[in-house]
Amino acid sequence: MAHRVRKAIFPVGGMGTRFLPATKAMPKEMLPVVDRPLIQYAVDEARAAGIEQFIFVTGRGKSAIEDHFDHSIELENLLEARNKVDALADLRETLLPPGNIAYVRQQEPLGLGHAVWCARNLVGDEPFAVLLADDLIQADTPCLKQMADVFAEKGGNVIAAMEVPDEHTSRYGIIDAGGASGDVRPVKGLVEKPQAGSAPSNLAVIGRYILMPEVFEELGRQEKGAGGEIQLTDAMARLIDRQPFHGVAFQGTRFDCGDKLGFLEANIAFAMEHEDLGPGARDMIDRLAGDAS
Ligand code: G1P
Repeated sequence: MAHRVRKAIFPVGGMGTRFLPATKAMPKEMLPVVDRPLIQYAVDEARAAGIEQFIFVTGRGKSAIEDHFDHSIELENLLEARNKVDALADLRETLLPPGNIAYVRQQEPLGLGHAVWCARNLVGDEPFAVLLADDLIQADTPCLKQMADVFAEKGGNVIAAMEVPDEHTSRYGIIDAGGASGDVRPVKGLVEKPQAGSAPSNLAVIGRYILMPEVFEELGRQEKGAGGEIQLTDAMARLIDRQPFHGVAFQGTRFDCGDKLGFLEANIAFAMEHEDLGPGARDMIDRLAGDAS
């Protein structure tokens, strides 16, 4: 049987406290990297991996995300009347097929695991993807597509993995791969945010997951873990003995857009690669670097 993933969960309920005051009245997922909001990169990546149904776990104050993926009739009429063909095409890219997008609210900020669990009835009994929009990944083959290819071959659970400096293990879920190397590694253990020195490795979980529906059973226990939150990492750790579990050391560069410097770096990197803006952005960076030295 071919293994295929049709549904993706986007947890977008977070308060964005690290980006205040920018995120006071605007969801952090709507912060733009060059010319599109973070959440659109995640949705585009999911589409490129064959995802057909999009489930957003939102919270209060997040309605701009719903508007972003809907028609804006006034804008479309205006652009059509003015024959702004390119802008119209950009706008059409934001539309998701009717009936294939759903929103569910996480009423309280109880953790990433709880956010994913809130989508359980919409996912049902099939494998699904989770994408965290804060983790922006620049890659020739989109990261989730790389993982979907591994899933098609091996089935089970597949998570994105990246080596991080030893002193950063306390920021991530950390994988025990039993010392294995290579692009696809077995996951033997998982720990959420271990202190440097007590981590099983420096191989971190990055915000892309393909998970089997049994993880909802584990999440349903509502047990609190690191930081007093219901952690996805803890629920996954309990599945390791029951099901195949692989970490994919993906090809590409990941930017931590939950952090101001990481977000700035993403803007620079994506501007430099941008078809129209690239040359101008490179000149600007050279000029600014020259002025600073
Ligand atoms: C979450 C997960 C963590 C993972 C990280 C990736 O943490 O809990 O396991 O390594 O995303 O970005 P957060 O960044 O939400 O604290």
